[in-house]
Amino acid sequence: MKVTVVGTGYVGLTQGACLARLGHQVFCVDINLKKVEALKRGEIPIFEKGLPEIVKEGRENSRLKFTTSLKEATAEKPAVVFVCVQTPKNEDGSSDLSVVKKVLEDLGELINASTLVVIKSTVPPGTRALFHEWLGDKDIQLASNPEFLRQGTSVNDFFNPDRIVIGVESKTAGRVLRKLLSGINAPIFETDVETAQMVKYTANNMLALRLSFINEIANIADIFGADIKMIEKVVGMDPRIGSKFLRSSAGFGGSCFPKDVLALHVAAADAGYNSKLIAPIIKVNDEQPLRFVEKIRNHFEDLNGKKFAVWGLSFNKGTDDIRESPAIKIVHLLTALGAKVSAFDPEAMENAKAELDENVEYTTSKEGTLENADALLVLTEWPEFLDADWDLVKSSLKEKVIFDGKNFLPHDDLFKRGFEVFGMGVWRSDKKRLQ
Ligand code: UGA
Repeated sequence: MKVTVVGTGYVGLTQGACLARLGHQVFCVDINLKKVEALKRGEIPIFEKGLPEIVKEGRENSRLKFTTSLKEATAEKPAVVFVCVQTPKNEDGSSDLSVVKKVLEDLGELINASTLVVIKSTVPPGTRALFHEWLGDKDIQLASNPEFLRQGTSVNDFFNPDRIVIGVESKTAGRVLRKLLSGINAPIFETDVETAQMVKYTANNMLALRLSFINEIANIADIFGADIKMIEKVVGMDPRIGSKFLRSSAGFGGSCFPKDVLALHVAAADAGYNSKLIAPIIKVNDEQPLRFVEKIRNHFEDLNGKKFAVWGLSFNKGTDDIRESPAIKIVHLLTALGAKVSAFDPEAMENAKAELDENVEYTTSKEGTLENADALLVLTEWPEFLDADWDLVKSSLKEKVIFDGKNFLPHDDLFKRGFEVFGMGVWRSDKKRLQ
């Protein structure tokens, strides 16, 4: 089938390249000329496992093309256009739909009712009438096909989803999408558009709620001297609760949870419902990096002139994305208190350089950060941080102390090796507990 994908961020690019792999003829369009030129040369602007290979394959067999012109990308009357553009948050937490608006207005000039417009961007319910207005009065059908891709595993998630949701306005649209996605082995749920949009918000809000909840429990565990790792393990064994997304940390990040949580809260409020449970998810998360830095201050008291080795800057392993990354927030807090930081991340260093100030230096290896460092901070759970040469770490650090912002290091083992280890709701130290 002929498909147009608007937006080549990690969602759009993954969507386009994976649909080409399924055998469809895909035209990806993005207004960013530099990005499109790079993609045409075969360069991938983001770090995402497996993506370079399928983009290469699509370019070579000519099933995947790139352009900056929406007119060119829709000239061959595609059966489906996927809108995969950003919906960042406005100051008041609502979803900024200005890019979606521009795309729909432009599409309204270029396509007719034979093309189905599928919104993959995360947009709040209650927007469908507005979207039709932006498309113009042309009987063009809208659908919602929310994505559940995780950065770092998005290609695998595309081909092996737990479920697919298609929110449609007619049975015909449902048939078109089923045919398009028939190469993927997953249950497909056909709903109305609003339900599909709510499924996406519910999933992200539920996951974020779990994380903020376990982070609150970690904060309380700190006060009472309980061990959050054991709490997570034992509680997670209850099949009604489950162990996934139950790992406490110095906060969650990324481009999705923080904005989607707020957007649902604001959309509900605008529609007259004042949610009591949703806003605190973000409040708890905003405070976690502060709590983490408090622990470091409790240990060192004055951070002025101290130097910290930082491993990990991206918001998650497997990605170079630093948006809303707790690591970045923590580094900002430390440098504001007069500390210096020597940082390493396997993929996110270039993005971090554009965001952080001159009090941060960068090294080409994780070991390089250790020189003259007072302590080690591990802020992203890259697997390679688990394979560190801990003897080298120990001999290099001025104080044998590690702060684990993701609670993922082997704490007992490190303690046996002579380190003090502090995480959120977890510590291994003879001396004191740092709340
Ligand atoms: C999230 C959802 O997981 C996807 O299903 C969804 O499609 C995507 O948002 C989206 O809306 O586009 P993503 O933000 O890429 O995906 O990454 P996650 O793996 O969900 O991680 C989010 C944050 O939570 C990271 O900072 C991660 O370190 C943190 N996290 C995750 C924890 O602190 N503890 C955990 O147990 C799990």
